[in-house]
Amino acid sequence: MSIWVLGATGRVGRAVTARLREHETVPVGRNLRDGTGIVADGADRIAAAIKAQRPKVVVNTIGDYAETAPVIARACLEAGAHYVDQANDLASVPRLLGLHDEAVAAGGTLVTGAGFGVLATEAVVAKLCEGRPTPARIRVDALASVAVEEGLLGTALAASLVEGLTTGGRRYRNGKLTKSRIGAGATTIVLPDGDRVTAAEGPSAELLAAHNASGAPEIVATNAMLPASPAARAALPVVKLLLSPQPVRRFAIKNMAAIKGKDAPRPRRHSWGHAIVTWPDGTTHEGWLKAGDGMDFTAAVSAEVAARLVRGEGKPGAYTPAAAFGPGLALAAGGEFLLS
Ligand SMILES: NC(=O)c1ccc[n+]([C@@H]2O[C@H](COP(=O)([O-])OP(=O)(O)OC[C@H]3O[C@@H](n4cnc5c(N)ncnc54)[C@H](OP(=O)(O)O)[C@@H]3O)[C@@H](O)[C@H]2O)c1
Repeated sequence: MSIWVLGATGRVGRAVTARLREHETVPVGRNLRDGTGIVADGADRIAAAIKAQRPKVVVNTIGDYAETAPVIARACLEAGAHYVDQANDLASVPRLLGLHDEAVAAGGTLVTGAGFGVLATEAVVAKLCEGRPTPARIRVDALASVAVEEGLLGTALAASLVEGLTTGGRRYRNGKLTKSRIGAGATTIVLPDGDRVTAAEGPSAELLAAHNASGAPEIVATNAMLPASPAARAALPVVKLLLSPQPVRRFAIKNMAAIKGKDAPRPRRHSWGHAIVTWPDGTTHEGWLKAGDGMDFTAAVSAEVAARLVRGEGKPGAYTPAAAFGPGLALAAGGEFLLS
């Protein structure tokens, strides 16, 4: 009943493996040093190994999900395995959710967005909308606080950042995902613990998850990861334009991956998922999900999903995490709801 952790030497991969120590886990990576596990580089080789060795669950932390996730998820379905990843961009998540019918036919479960993003805001929206009619408007804010680990940024994270920047801004208008200005709507948010954080609109799969959880026609999603200064935010559309051609993107990912970070504590005490939901009659409810370090929460979510899948608790299909297991998954991963 093995759980494979792809990208086992990476930050999320190591943390997920540590949380799954009561299970039989197999590290998979391209640079495994201690002689254990499966050495495989790239989605195609990993997919071939999955089909040959048929694990029970695969946790994909290698990133570049728009490219790697469909190949690896399809191999899982062929091998009778379930699949989990931490994608949170609007290229990868819809692609993975697009495999729903294939997953149902194969009897496999695919969970994407199994991290702070998507779950921290999805869980609050799902909780606030439980037993209520379709809302008119939603605003979600993903306010992660993450400690920096000394070392290289890495290709996985660099690819996610470039993917976000090149997608450009998005929001739901009249029920449709439409373009908006990346970095728009910058606001300073006072958190329930008294800390403050600036967040601005960015493209993330949290939009999609909030839409699927609520049916609301108007949705805005902000996050705290975009640069805080107005000048930097004004430059974001230019950065998007410059990074758009494929060779430039590859160059940017390679160079960003080599950026060295120094150890730094997380900037705020807690990470927060936040949602404000407004119904057509003007009724408004607000909710928060409180978590610790955003990376730790991400690892906890993926490990919890993998553990549930290995126990056979998943339903066939492709889902975001709260759609697969309900908003209570966020509590099982160590979060706490504050609802009004
Ligand atoms: N949803 C969320 O809230 C959330 C939170 C955190 C992270 N994430 C995402 O999760 C992913 C992992 O993040 P991370 O910080 O753990 O990244 P990381 O530290 O760079 O780890 C990535 C791992 O994948 C391996 N890898 C990369 N490309 C590979 C390939 N082609 N074949 C085989 N192995 C490969 C790396 O190996 P090497 O060491 O050899 O490079 C490394 O072990 C990123 O996409 C990140 O954006 C999402």
